[in-house]
Amino acid sequence: MSQPKYKTVLVDKENGITWVTFNRPEKRNAFNPTMVYELEEIFLDLETDDETRVIVVTGAGNSWSAGMDLKEYFREGDANPRTRFRSYTSMERWAGELLSMSRKPSIAMVNGYVFGGAFIPVCNADFAIAAEDAVFGLSEVNWGVIPGGAVAKVLVDTINIRDAMYYATTGETFDGKKAAEIKLVNFAVPRDRLRAETIALANKLMEKNPTVLAYTKQAVKAVRQMSYNEALEYLMAKGTALRFADRNQTRDEGIKKFIDKKEFKPGYTAIKGKDAD
Ligand code: COA
Repeated sequence: MSQPKYKTVLVDKENGITWVTFNRPEKRNAFNPTMVYELEEIFLDLETDDETRVIVVTGAGNSWSAGMDLKEYFREGDANPRTRFRSYTSMERWAGELLSMSRKPSIAMVNGYVFGGAFIPVCNADFAIAAEDAVFGLSEVNWGVIPGGAVAKVLVDTINIRDAMYYATTGETFDGKKAAEIKLVNFAVPRDRLRAETIALANKLMEKNPTVLAYTKQAVKAVRQMSYNEALEYLMAKGTALRFADRNQTRDEGIKKFIDKKEFKPGYTAIKGKDAD
């Protein structure tokens, strides 16, 4: 059920999926300070919420998000250093570290406009699925700023430099199909399939042991910034940590069921488990 405690975001929980919906459709879901403070609180809460197995982030109305709020975030932030500092920090925390390194897998379900700062959560979500007719744009160059606040960084960490440069410097918009072609999103689907395809991916993720899944996604994200030798060390330590963290002892159970009992093929299915640490 929706929790009315938030002014600008809806939170709905159903069958293991928590739907986080930006809810300022009249402002195309632009991120104002209220919304980023609420999102920071929501993402902190979800981290330890047992009901939440997968987080889906989407937008109300015809927009995913039109990016940072030019009035409340930029103009009013310029005039108020405290608001500026707090809102910049909250944005980086929820759309950066909390979303990116969460133990819960996340899917950006892109239903419409994605401009500027909205690229940060699209890129930092673990997966993104777009409606074929969604509209993406790095509009910053059109109104006199650079793709800052981590936009350029998450962009080049996600797509190749040729496409990043082209869209950042031309400000040209592109649709969901193009976003899938340049791998900004995993795939694009007709609008009427968007929700069903998102749920299908979420269900696929929920078949895995949540602790194993959490460690896997964190490992894939973390090694991107590391040298080869650092990655080897980190992965060895992370793998060892998982053996202690996984209350279901999935690894030992998997070996037993495959080698001794011959009742399971890890090449095709997953050992199920509900405990998350
Ligand atoms: N910041 C603040 N307000 C925004 C906004 C933003 N990023 N994006 C939209 N809005 C507001 C508009 O000011 C308008 O408010 P009003 O009704 O009080 O006049 C309302 O949302 C609807 O916007 P409108 O432009 O009329 O909708 P549209 O459907 O014709 O166009 C967009 C949608 C997204 C193409 C257009 O609003 C736009 O270009 N927004 C800015 C996108 C952008 O450059 N974002 C980068 C920020 S980093």
